[in-house]
Amino acid sequence: MKFARNAQSLDASYIREILSAANQPEMISMAGGLPASSLLPVELVRATCESLADNSHLFQYGNSQGFGPLLDTLQRSSKTQNPWLICNGSQQALDLIARALLEPGDQVIAEMPAYLGALQVFQLSGIKVCPLMSSTSGPDLDQLESYLKGGNIKLFYSVPDFHNPTGRVWSTETRIAVAKLCRHYGVTLVEDAPYRELRFAGEQLDTVSEHCPELSISLKSFSKIGFPGLRVGAMSGPADFIAVAERIKQATDLHTGIPQQAMIEALLNHPEFSEHLTRLRQGYQSRYQHLSDALQQQLGDLVQFDTVEGGMFVWLTLTQGNSSDVAARALQHKLAVVPGAAFYPADMALENSALRLNFSNTEPALFPEAVNRLAQALQPMALTA
Ligand SMILES: Cc1ncc(COP(=O)(O)O)c(C=O)c1O
Repeated sequence: MKFARNAQSLDASYIREILSAANQPEMISMAGGLPASSLLPVELVRATCESLADNSHLFQYGNSQGFGPLLDTLQRSSKTQNPWLICNGSQQALDLIARALLEPGDQVIAEMPAYLGALQVFQLSGIKVCPLMSSTSGPDLDQLESYLKGGNIKLFYSVPDFHNPTGRVWSTETRIAVAKLCRHYGVTLVEDAPYRELRFAGEQLDTVSEHCPELSISLKSFSKIGFPGLRVGAMSGPADFIAVAERIKQATDLHTGIPQQAMIEALLNHPEFSEHLTRLRQGYQSRYQHLSDALQQQLGDLVQFDTVEGGMFVWLTLTQGNSSDVAARALQHKLAVVPGAAFYPADMALENSALRLNFSNTEPALFPEAVNRLAQALQPMALTA
């Protein structure tokens, strides 16, 4: 069979491959971006699940925009009047955005390293990604402005809260400055925020979209605070954009499954939902603390990392050695981690000094052993120091 050019060029996701290795017995996986299985709020939707069979209307075709009660719930919690569209995870929102707004050859800005799933969508659509460097307070604003000044940028794809893979959060000043720049140059901002609710320390900051709602598209995921397996996410944006995205969604899959939307709606409106979020944040804070302590105690000067205040990831910089080699050796010691190179487009200068460690899906007591395995994978480097 002759495949389309963009399909041929789509790389197999390193993470998907490593996740299959991660299922081997005795493997400790810090590779995926999975929520803690033990903290999934199954009890909060048990009654809704049990009553599904009594509600046959939920098994009919539905609206492309989404299940009415879920749309109402989202609208009630919105700070803007922008309408919502329910998607199959926020991943589908990225695909719909690309199809609604971008032509092959168009340019988008993305912070590097970047969320792999977004890079795949851009690659599949033949989009050129302009890499934006970032630091602990957010993207390099001078570089951002020089891209915007060039005049060929269609949109800026951003993850301002607990970035995947770096765990970084943009400062308030950066948020305001980015909104101002997008306004000045008339460039669409895509704000992807699946980890926003997972803050376990520090203050919650405004979204960037609140500062420029007329040209922002905000993505919401229920995978990290609810259930990734249900594949429900959403996006809001200017009404003309949502109308076009809804037509594309209709042509793609008609609509997202109604029973799973009903389950998410029940979860969000459950009287114990906010307690669930508190439990989740505490659980992740404890995991992060165990990981951070183990890294400092066992690896010392061999690694560096910035503290994180939420989310699911630590971005670990190796002071020596190649992170792809270390990740491969770690697998032999039954530890799965993702090397930094996986978060860059294939044709870009590769990151080879960092690893992404996920801490949400490992039980706290396992971190000393996980870091011990990482120490063994780093051993040859320690010997050459
Ligand atoms: C930054 C980012 N955006 C989007 C997604 C996709 O999430 P969903 O499960 O809602 O499709 C992920 C998943 O890990 C992510 O990290």
